[in-house]
Amino acid sequence: MAAEHMKVIMVVGARPNFMKAAPIITAINRHNNRIGTDYAGRYVRAEDRIRHILVHTGQHYDDLMSGSFFRALNLPEPDVHLGVGSGSQAVQTAEIMKAFEHVLLREKPEIVVVVGDVNSTLACALVTAKTSFGGGASRPLIAHVEAGLRSFDRSMPEEINRVLTDHVADLLFVTEESGLQNLHNEGVAGEGVHFVGNTMIDSVLAFKDKAEASSILGDLGLRTPPGKRGKGHSIRDYAVLTLHRPANVDDRDAFLNILTGLSELATDYPIVFPVHPRTQQRIREFGLETQLGMNESKTRSSGNGWQGLILTDPLGYLDFLCLMKHARLMVTDSGGIQEETTCLGIPCVTVRENTERPVTVQRGTNMIAGTKSEGIKAAIREQVVRTPPAGMPQKWDGQAATRIVDVLIRARHERCFGSGHHGR
Ligand code: UD1
Repeated sequence: MAAEHMKVIMVVGARPNFMKAAPIITAINRHNNRIGTDYAGRYVRAEDRIRHILVHTGQHYDDLMSGSFFRALNLPEPDVHLGVGSGSQAVQTAEIMKAFEHVLLREKPEIVVVVGDVNSTLACALVTAKTSFGGGASRPLIAHVEAGLRSFDRSMPEEINRVLTDHVADLLFVTEESGLQNLHNEGVAGEGVHFVGNTMIDSVLAFKDKAEASSILGDLGLRTPPGKRGKGHSIRDYAVLTLHRPANVDDRDAFLNILTGLSELATDYPIVFPVHPRTQQRIREFGLETQLGMNESKTRSSGNGWQGLILTDPLGYLDFLCLMKHARLMVTDSGGIQEETTCLGIPCVTVRENTERPVTVQRGTNMIAGTKSEGIKAAIREQVVRTPPAGMPQKWDGQAATRIVDVLIRARHERCFGSGHHGR
């Protein structure tokens, strides 16, 4: 017999997880509010109520990397906080696994939902795959949101996390068509794979108007005074830079080479650079704080070798969304920003040798520049004058989370009442 409600554990751990998980929690709440009502010709039964338990692993713990995102995205406080914190790849993954196993055995959910490609994603998926509730009770289903993406670069910890998570998942929620093909090529295709769209884009679409209320452009001196009649374009042209991949920031020469690739752009436009904690640490270790103006005020524009770079602490979700929306150009090594700029129609230069999100390149918003200064300069020259084509990748329509919740309910029905079994 099915329980009175479906218990779902939702795992988040690091900054990019929060905007992927928030729309799913919103969709679950919307679904629960329909219990007892008839919608779209369907009666929503009480046993279809979903009880979600939000587990935060603590992979990211600073307010700037975590707490501020919970507030901006209206995420509820985590029900469980594992408090794991930083560590090497092995230590962090192992600590999350040890702590999550206790939660899993105590809560005995029917489904564990993991999102994205961070260490928390893989750690919790692995624990779930190998757990058993005893007495013949099967383990929970594992649902992976953002399945199927592949950079084919096994030196990236995220690629290992993606591949392994997909190979233990029962429900695979795919964001773009390349994901379907990749899963098929790896023999992971089947009834568990669902092309639902992109929950990170659900968040962009839900919050992009609200982001206009951010004061970030004024704070950074990027608003020009209005014209004589109080009219006219009041936002300066500027670019935004983010860098945090170990391959780009852990080696001094590699990092400086990338900054050299930005030198032409920096003479034409201010470049806002919200600096990830890992990158801040490296800048200190490399002795570049003064040269880069890391200790100066946020609105600095001092006469050092990198004039034009405006370094800030990591920004909150709405401030960063506002900054992206009005940017002339984004330069990044982030995966999510490649997608967000595609949604917003902002040209993006990706400082990596590859992308696991090829739809962003096919759409014409994103260009893969490599990590050498000359390639970066060439890509910037091309992208900075580009008007990206309008139009959105398939199913990037703000409804991905709703589709996911529908599949979760169907999967639970099938498991409880027959017609196939998703668990392997
Ligand atoms: C992680 C993810 C990466 C994601 C990125 C977004 C993995 C393998 N990597 O990388 O995919 O794009 O998050 O930010 O899961 N730190 C703080 N405060 C924090 C968190 C981290 O100071 O709240 C510092 C710590 O010194 C830590 C370093 O940043 O050692 C790196 O953090 P970690 O979570 O290990 O990986 P990220 O580089 O953030």
